[in-house]
Order: sequence, then structure tokens, then C-alpha cells
Amino acid sequence: MKTDLSEKFGIEYPIFGFTPSAHVAAAISRAGGLGVLGCVRFNEAEELDEVLEWMHENTDGKPFGVDVVMPAKIPTEGSKVDLDSMIPPEHRAFVERTLDDLGVPQLPDGGDRVNTGVLGWLHSVARSHVDIAMEHARKYGQIKLIANALGSPPEDVIGLAHENGVQVAALAGAKEHALSHVNAGVDIVIAQGYEGGGHTGEVTSMILWPELVDALGDTAPVLAAGGVGSGRQMAAAIALGAQGVWMGTYWLTAAEYELGATGDGPSTVQQALLSATSRDTVRRRIYSGKPARLLKTKWTDAWDAKGAPEPLPMPLQNLLVGEAHARISQAADPEVVAMPAGQIVGRCNEILPVEEMISGLVAEYKQAASRIQATLD
Ligand SMILES: Cc1cc2nc3c(=O)[nH]c(=O)nc-3n(C[C@H](O)[C@H](O)[C@H](O)COP(=O)(O)O)c2cc1C
Repeated sequence: MKTDLSEKFGIEYPIFGFTPSAHVAAAISRAGGLGVLGCVRFNEAEELDEVLEWMHENTDGKPFGVDVVMPAKIPTEGSKVDLDSMIPPEHRAFVERTLDDLGVPQLPDGGDRVNTGVLGWLHSVARSHVDIAMEHARKYGQIKLIANALGSPPEDVIGLAHENGVQVAALAGAKEHALSHVNAGVDIVIAQGYEGGGHTGEVTSMILWPELVDALGDTAPVLAAGGVGSGRQMAAAIALGAQGVWMGTYWLTAAEYELGATGDGPSTVQQALLSATSRDTVRRRIYSGKPARLLKTKWTDAWDAKGAPEPLPMPLQNLLVGEAHARISQAADPEVVAMPAGQIVGRCNEILPVEEMISGLVAEYKQAASRIQATLD
């Protein structure tokens, strides 16, 4: 299976896998796709440095990518404003009360209460991720892609990536965003439909993918994201003009997924994902301040209940819920989970090793392609 884009990256299949897990990202690259490591969870550049070194040692020399979150505009960062002081006390009280009501324990003593997993959302920290990734790209030549979640990366970041032989991708949920990415110098547009996990726009994949393919023409290839969890959906993406798929939710039930794991069986989050149906997600601003699709749980229900406050804008909402997310992930209750997930979660029904997940996708893709071919024979 190949497209111009998979050939360009020297990968066996045009399967691009976004994941916050280094273990899963490495397994995707080893299995012939392109694993893309989400960096937003790294507060410290040194931690990312170590993980990228680990990726280098565990990817058999195969290419991989990184994903950073550089919001186009965060008006408060860089000014002297104390972000913490901008969070209304009622919001803090609501979060505390909700966690108590849901029986979520405090972090153990010594837990990092202050910047629990939120610094990666700040532009300055994302820039330090870029610097580390570029250092690794120069050192080992394996990092071939840098993707940005929320807008076009700044011009100098695009220039730096290109100098290091790294392609630049950006997510888009609307035609205007895709066109402005390409104008800014982005090489690959990831068309992320409404049904996808994480930050999404309002246009569904079925409409968005061909819309962006047509709008961009030869100026940039499109990767189809949002709702892909089978070889048939991959075939649909290729039929609609995409050069490959970009999947996120699908990998959350990979056997290699090590984040938040508890013991030998599926982690708490995986237990929640395994039992979720395609109707068990909601698109809300409560995760980051911008609309993101999340697994529907008692935590999201609490924010939907009467009397709950309106979410704050990014990055205040991240600061508000950072510690809550850390507490929830340690609570080991599958009914109280704070996790981005797309509607395809309804098909994530078993824990499988990545290699099997990819070979299953490819086998089903071939069947779908033959079925399409047979209509012409
Ligand atoms: C748990 C999770 C975390 C995500 N975090 C990010 C992120 O940090 N940066 C980003 O560009 N996209 C992020 N996304 C979106 C994915 O890159 C991808 O576009 C999306 O998952 C595709 O839709 P799907 O979930 O239906 O496969 C995340 C998705 C999930 C499920």
C-alpha cells in the first residue's frame, strides 16, 4: 500500500499515528506507519529529550514525528499578567467540589500540584519542544515530521524544520484554516473532522476531507483525520483524495499504551474506552478552553449540570483543570475519566498490540479496495 506521501517518508503504509505514548509511537513506526509523539504533556524539555532518545533506541532506525501545541494567539503569555490570579475563585471552588463529590482523592504528598501537565500548552514551552526535536532531527535524522495542533506554526519554526529536513504539518477543521496553513509554508494539512478526538471543528470528515483536497489541489497533500478506525475508513479516505490517514483515538487501546496503566490488565482509561460506544463522546471547552471531543464521563457530566460555570478561555482552563486531570488519572475510576476521544471509540473494543492493529487495517483496506475495483470489472 503506498501513496506519494508514504513514499516521501519512506514508510510502508500511509498510516500516521498520533499518540501521547512513546511506546505506542515507536511501535507504529516499527510496524511500518509513522508514529507521531504528542509532546504537550512534557512540562520540561529535558524529559522530552530523554523520551526522544528512548524513541531513537526503540524504532529500528525508522522515521517518526513529533506533535506540539502552539496556539496561534495566547494574549496573556509573555505579559506580566499572573495567569493564576485570573482564575475566578468560583471556578476553583466548583472543581474542588466536583472532585470531592466524585470521590477523586488528592494527589499523594509531594505530587506536583503546581504545573501538573499544563505547561506544554504555553507557547514558550512548545518552542522548547521544537528546539529539542530539531536537535534530535539533526543528531539521528529520524524525526521527519513536526505537526502543530492549533494553527500554523510560526514562520521561523517552519524554516527551522525545513533546514533540518523535517516536513511540517498542521491540523485544520475548516477550509480557511487549511489555506492559511499552506500560505504560511506548511507542507501537509491534516483534515480533522468533527467526529475526531481532541480539538475539532464543526465539519464532519465525510464533508471536510474532499473539501480540503479540492481547495488545496496540488499545493499540499491532505491526511484524513477524525473517525478512522478500520481499513474501510482508510479506503474511504484515499477514495476522497487524501494521501493517508492520521489516527488518534484508535491507538488508545493499544497493548503498548503505558500511560496511566494500573497493573497487568487494561488501565482505568482503557477500561472506560473499551466499554464506550460511538455515542459516548461530547465536544466541550472544558479540557483546554477550546472545543475538544472527550469521552463522556461523570466529569464531563458535572460540567454540563445546572449551575456549572462556563469554561475559561485557553490557557486559563488548562491551568484550572491541570491538577484535576492529574488527580483523576490517579483515581483509577473508569467512570471518572478526563480524556480526549473521538466517536470511533465505539470500535475500540479490544486491547491489541500495534503490529496487529496495523496489519488488520491493511488487510481490511485491501478487501475494501478489491470491492471497489470489482464494481468496475
Ligand atoms: C487522547 C488524544 C489526545 C490528543 N492530543 C492532541 C495533541 O496534543 N495535539 C494534536 O495535534 N492532536 C491531538 N489529538 C488529535 C489527534 O492528533 C487526531 O487528529 C485525532 O485523534 C484524529 O481523530 P480520531 O481520534 O477520530 O482518530 C488528540 C487526540 C486524542 C484522542
